Amino acid sequence: ELVENALDAGARSIDIEIEEGGRQRIRVGDDGVGMGREDAVLALARHATSKIRAAADLVGVASYGFRGEALPAICSVSQLEIETAPVDGGGTRVRAAAGAVEDTREAARRRGTTVTVAHLFYNAPARHKFMRGARSEWRAIMEAVTSVALTRRDVRLSLTHDGKEVLTLPAASSLRARLAALWGGAYAERFLAVDDVRGTTRVSGLVERPADVGTASRRIYVSVNGRAVRDFGIVRAAEAAYQSTIPSGVRPTLFLDFEVARRALGTIGAGAAIGRPTIPFPAAPRYEPPGVDVEALRADRRPREGLFAPSEAGEGTAPAPTPGPADAPTRPESGPEDAEPIPFLMQVNRTYLLFESEGGVVLIDQHSAHERILYEKFMGALTRGEAPG
Ligand SMILES: Nc1ncnc2c1ncn2[C@@H]1O[C@H](COP(=O)(O)OP(=O)(O)OP(=O)(O)O)[C@@H](O)[C@H]1O
Ligand SMILES: [Mg+2]
Repeated sequence: ELVENALDAGARSIDIEIEEGGRQRIRVGDDGVGMGREDAVLALARHATSKIRAAADLVGVASYGFRGEALPAICSVSQLEIETAPVDGGGTRVRAAAGAVEDTREAARRRGTTVTVAHLFYNAPARHKFMRGARSEWRAIMEAVTSVALTRRDVRLSLTHDGKEVLTLPAASSLRARLAALWGGAYAERFLAVDDVRGTTRVSGLVERPADVGTASRRIYVSVNGRAVRDFGIVRAAEAAYQSTIPSGVRPTLFLDFEVARRALGTIGAGAAIGRPTIPFPAAPRYEPPGVDVEALRADRRPREGLFAPSEAGEGTAPAPTPGPADAPTRPESGPEDAEPIPFLMQVNRTYLLFESEGGVVLIDQHSAHERILYEKFMGALTRGEAPG
């Protein structure tokens, strides 16, 4: 919440200091617009927000915050200090504890705001008991800061934990540059750039090459209009695009930014907890192809020529629509003995096998082919009444 406030204030640079996983102290300093003395006190009052001026602003909220709840809520369960100045020099320091302002005085500082939250939940023992250990709170902070760093690459960020510098990220001109600052240049080079516009939505980002999937720990970062979100629908749709290019069971690393026309979205962030909110898209996309009865597919143990054909295709007699080119020389009726060997040319990208064929080449996705072979073996064993090995 403090970092979002800094971003809403137009910060170009944000410094975050954490002590004991935040259990002891959280301090967020920014170089944003700052606040005058009155506003600094008002900021701690419930439902005081500078971000919504008219009811219409609630549709397609452009700022991260809009409720005027975060600071008062945090303040009610901590010792909180705001040091802020709208211009270099004359500023204000407000100290509060357990929701009550204790003192307000002048303080000289550069333009911007620093909010310090100490002893979170010190006056709420029941809630305090449910705080996780310093390590796991720290992990959650790292995760939250990382996802801000990936979405707001235009902002310089630093993060320290117990006095040790953990992240120093200069403003970056691209997602790849941010990735490089976070996890190294070699890591950043692993990914393919994607960029596509459909209707009112633009998707861009970096995605793992199929051949690399599963070789490094998996990361998923998705943002919608500059806001980090968790959305399983988006992740599943992206994974579906990899289908048959990667072995089943491994899942790709994805860094995706969505830009959606604001009016196409509901109110973002309403009721969202700290961290990455889910997005209320007006209509959740559907991923099951219509008309396929998944239960029937699972129950059906017959070996089928068309592995990729929908289950409704009669008695399995329809020729298999193969995922390859339409004229690929598939020989569903012939066994390996009578099949003419097609000359093997090369392997591409550790994923595709290239064969020569009459008047062209045939690309075979080796992972899909492997799955197909195993499938036929198991199904063969099952119909013969044997236990599949
Ligand atoms: N870092 C900051 N720089 C400048 N102004 C700030 C900063 N943090 C808070 N404020 C001011 O204090 C007000 C209250 O902040 P608070 O986070 O409680 O509410 P909000 O951001 O408006 O909405 P939400 O509760 O949804 O976050 C903000 O509207 C803003 O005017
Ligand atoms: Mg806020």
